[in-house]
Amino acid sequence: MDAEYVENYCGYGPYDANYLFHSGIEHCTQLVDRMDLRVRSVAVLGAATGRVLEHFDAAWGIRPWGCEISSWAHQRIPGRYRRRIRRADMRDYLKELESRGREFDLIFSNALVYLEASEVAPFLARCARLSRHFHFWSSTSENYERGDQRRVTLRPRAWWRERFLAAGYVPTRSRYLWRSARRTR
Ligand SMILES: C[S@@+](CC[C@H](N)C(=O)[O-])C[C@H]1O[C@@H](n2cnc3c(N)ncnc32)[C@H](O)[C@@H]1O
Repeated sequence: MDAEYVENYCGYGPYDANYLFHSGIEHCTQLVDRMDLRVRSVAVLGAATGRVLEHFDAAWGIRPWGCEISSWAHQRIPGRYRRRIRRADMRDYLKELESRGREFDLIFSNALVYLEASEVAPFLARCARLSRHFHFWSSTSENYERGDQRRVTLRPRAWWRERFLAAGYVPTRSRYLWRSARRTR
């Protein structure tokens, strides 16, 4: 993420005016409330300039942990949130979390689309060991017709579903929320 990307987010215009449509953050907090899930810790993988972090704080009084690969975006995260957000690639960040035995109630990420196809299943398997739930509201070939063709390859929802299942996730009542069968707590 850089200035150009922020000014024309996903080809629609400024990030701040458009992220709610693409992020799924409001859907995430409302869904978790409606399903009456216990979420006390959140990891955001690809936090951008921190707007989604503000939503978790407003909804649940939680300041998420997480990472953001772009130093441009990371520098723009408000300080009160940035101290928990590492300037790092989420692939490295997750390995580090796992080696430190960290666990979360929820992973929120819409950055999976930036991974190589072959990386997705092993990445999700690691997520499934670290977190009870994963909110996946992301670019698919069905819901994102314009897409950001320069940066991602759009894939159908069934493609993502196969990888979530292979990684050890089971579906919930919502197709946007996956529960890890690898976590019992
Ligand atoms: C589509 S934006 C979504 C931003 C925010 N999560 C939201 O919902 O509005 C994806 C973000 O993930 C970041 N990103 C992409 N690949 C990443 C990676 N490998 N590790 C960490 N962050 C990554 C991008 O820089 C960008 O800020």
